Amino acid sequence: MITFAAKVETFTNSKNIARYAFGRGAVRGLETLLAARRTTADDFVVFFVDAFFRGRLGSLAFPVRPQDLLVFVETALEPTTDLADHMTANVRKHSAKAPCCVVGMGGGITLDVAKAVANLLTNGGKAEDFQGWDLVKKPALYKIGIPTVSGTGAEASRTCVLMNEKKNLKLGMNSEFTLYDQLILDPDLTESVPKEQYFYTGMDTYIHCIESLAGSYRHPVGDAFSHEALRLVSEVFDSNEMMALANREKLMVASYLGGCAIANSYVGVVHPFSAGLSVVLGIHHCLANCLVMNQMQDYYPRETAHFKKMLKAQGITLPSDVCRGLSDGQMERLYQSTVIHERPLTNALGVHYKDTLTLRKVRELFQRI
Ligand SMILES: [Fe+2]
Repeated sequence: MITFAAKVETFTNSKNIARYAFGRGAVRGLETLLAARRTTADDFVVFFVDAFFRGRLGSLAFPVRPQDLLVFVETALEPTTDLADHMTANVRKHSAKAPCCVVGMGGGITLDVAKAVANLLTNGGKAEDFQGWDLVKKPALYKIGIPTVSGTGAEASRTCVLMNEKKNLKLGMNSEFTLYDQLILDPDLTESVPKEQYFYTGMDTYIHCIESLAGSYRHPVGDAFSHEALRLVSEVFDSNEMMALANREKLMVASYLGGCAIANSYVGVVHPFSAGLSVVLGIHHCLANCLVMNQMQDYYPRETAHFKKMLKAQGITLPSDVCRGLSDGQMERLYQSTVIHERPLTNALGVHYKDTLTLRKVRELFQRI
């Protein structure tokens, strides 16, 4: 699909996921997909699996062979560039040969770690070398993504977000090579997600889409993905049984479409503020998004009202006073780690965004959270 942006002198040639399998029990097709990749006896697969599934893989008939490397990814903290480097080194230690496939199964953190390692294994260097836009130069290893919670769109997006603690930065390896080659979308896998996490993560899709639709870097295909994803997310969270099977199916589709939408666009005001909360206070991405979204009446008034309505409909209470009592130094770090996100903020507020997004304004907003 080729597009020409009307007023921007850039040429965008978009790519989405090549293949996806959808349906209840689809995860059982993983064995067949991997058998096609294993061409010699010593070919091995690296699995990155959310630590939640430790001891639970048997019931999924997970096709791990003795030569494979199975890594459980802890998700208490947001993933860092150091973690991605460490995981890559472990794969290299496991075998001098490259794996025939990398599988990521879990939420956004696990899916992103698998993407980062697949890039690093072929490109060399350190994870921080690739944080930014189109810095990955060589195709990644073939990889399969299996989301187990819906909303981040990590399964469909062209980035893998990592915290860089030394640089006070939260940024992804934004590249076509970061995209998964194959997805397995199995709504049975989201059944055991805790209610709050299900809501916060689902809202990531809502937020991606409203930010992208309100921005200035619009894309007709991205807009279409966003509109449909928003329709599905609204149906799920305006209903009174957000985790019913039909709603889990809808949310899984919405998450995928939201990820495709963002591949053609940029986020807006919410994600930079959310990144500040993650970098300075270590708050998880999806909860941080919701904390910010709840205070976005100046930027997205209609959507903020809808967000509050959905919170109420699902009986979700957000933590409060999260930024109370922060020092001036912490506030300054929050400001810096928010305004550093030039592309989304320019998308939302224009190139002179720092004229309105002053330290005082940013501070005021965080103090309401
Ligand atoms: Fe997000």
